[in-house]
Amino acid sequence: MPSAHTNGAYHFPSGFLWGAATAAHQVEGSNVNSDLWVLEHVKPTLFAEPSGDACDHYHRYPEDIRLLAELGYNTYRFSIEWARIEPEPGRFSISQLDHYRRMLVACHENGLKPMVTFYHFSSPRWFAGLGGWEKLSGADAFVRYCERAAKHLGDLITLATTFNEPNLPALLRWVGNLNLPFTTARRMTRHAARATGAGQFVPFPMGDAGRVQEVMISAHHQAVQVIKSGPGSYPVGVSLAMQDEQAVGANSRRDRKCAEVYDPWLAAADKSDFLGVQAYTRARVGKSGDLGPEPGFELTQMGYEYWPDALEQTVRYAAARSSVPIYVTENGISTDEDTRRIDYIRTALDGLRRCLEDGIDVRGYIHWSLLDNFEWIHGYRPRFGLISVNRQTRERTVKPSARYLGDIAKRNSMSLAD
Ligand code: BGC
Repeated sequence: MPSAHTNGAYHFPSGFLWGAATAAHQVEGSNVNSDLWVLEHVKPTLFAEPSGDACDHYHRYPEDIRLLAELGYNTYRFSIEWARIEPEPGRFSISQLDHYRRMLVACHENGLKPMVTFYHFSSPRWFAGLGGWEKLSGADAFVRYCERAAKHLGDLITLATTFNEPNLPALLRWVGNLNLPFTTARRMTRHAARATGAGQFVPFPMGDAGRVQEVMISAHHQAVQVIKSGPGSYPVGVSLAMQDEQAVGANSRRDRKCAEVYDPWLAAADKSDFLGVQAYTRARVGKSGDLGPEPGFELTQMGYEYWPDALEQTVRYAAARSSVPIYVTENGISTDEDTRRIDYIRTALDGLRRCLEDGIDVRGYIHWSLLDNFEWIHGYRPRFGLISVNRQTRERTVKPSARYLGDIAKRNSMSLAD
C-alpha cells in the first residue's frame, strides 16, 4: 500500500476519502411521513423530544455542503429518505427524487464525492404498518424503492450503502441486558399502530432481531443487484455498527455475541463491494452478556466509555473476517468539550494508521457527524457535530475539531506529533 512517513508525518494512501456524515431524519426536519415521526408523538414515548425542524438541512444543504468542502473534506455521506421518496406504496415522488439530485449536484459542484445511504433507520409509516423488516414483503418493497431511486440518482452517486447498521437490532439484544425499557417500546408501537390505523407497527430497531436479520440480509443482496443495474457505476456496500468487544472474566459470551451480531453481516458485506465500519466505543462482555461501562472511566454524553481505540480494534476484527475494502463510515463522540473531540479523532486516526501500516485496505474516514443533530431517542442533547447548530436560528458555527480534521484531510496526512 503506497503510504509513508516523512518529516514526522504519516501520509494516507492517495485517493483516501475524508468526510463527514449525516442521516436524513436526524438533520432534514419535518420528516412527517416517517415511522419515527409517529413514534416521537405517541404517549408514552421513549423520545426525549420530537425531531421537529431538526437542522433544516432539507433547505440548508447548499450551505452545509459548501462549508464541508471549504474545510478541506472531499466526501459527504448522507442518506436519502424513503418516507419522502415513496410516500405511499408504489407511488414515487419525482420532486423528492429531484431534491436528492440537487444535493448530489451540489456535492459535485463543491468537489465532494457523495456517498449515499439508501436506508438510515427511518421508513415510510406505511412500511412499519405492513410489518416492516419482519416480513419478506418488506424486502421486496425496499428493493423496489432502491431500484427506483438508483434509476433517478445513480449517474451522480460515487459510493452507496444499502443499509446503515442493519445489525443494530441484534446488537441491542445484547445491550438489552442492561435493562432498556422494552415495555415502553412495546406500548409505543401499539399506540403507533392505533394512531396510523394499521394492525401493527414494526419500526426497524424494534423488530425481532433474528427475523429482521434474515430479511435484511436478503434485501441487501437484492438491493445491491438492482442498484448496480441502474445508471452510473459505483461500489455498493453496507455499514455495520461495531464495538471493540472485550471478554471479561471466565466463560465470557463475547465470542458468541460477535458470532451473532457481526459475522453474518460481515459475510454479506464480503459479497458486496465494500464494508463500512462504524465504531464509537467498547463493550465489556461477561458470562451473562454486556456489563456496561467500567466504573471510574470517562463517559461521553451518550453514556459510552470514551474509547477511541474502538476504531482500530473493529477495523482489525472486520478485516480478519472479510476481504473487501473497508471505509470507516462513522466514528465520533458526543461531547460539549470540543478538545475531547480533537483528542478522540487524533487517537482514532492513529489506530487507523496502524491498520494501514499492517496492510489493511482502508480507503476512507468519515466522521459522525457533520452537524449537531437529532440523536434519536436522546433528542438534541448529545452533540456529535463538527459544526454546531443554533437551535433557535439554525445558524451554523464551525468547531475547532472540524478544522483539525479538515486540515488532515487537506494534507492527506497527519503529523505523528499531532
Ligand atoms: C448511527 C447514527 C447515530 C450515531 C450516534 C450510529 O449508530 O448510525 O445515526 O446518530 O450512531 O449514536
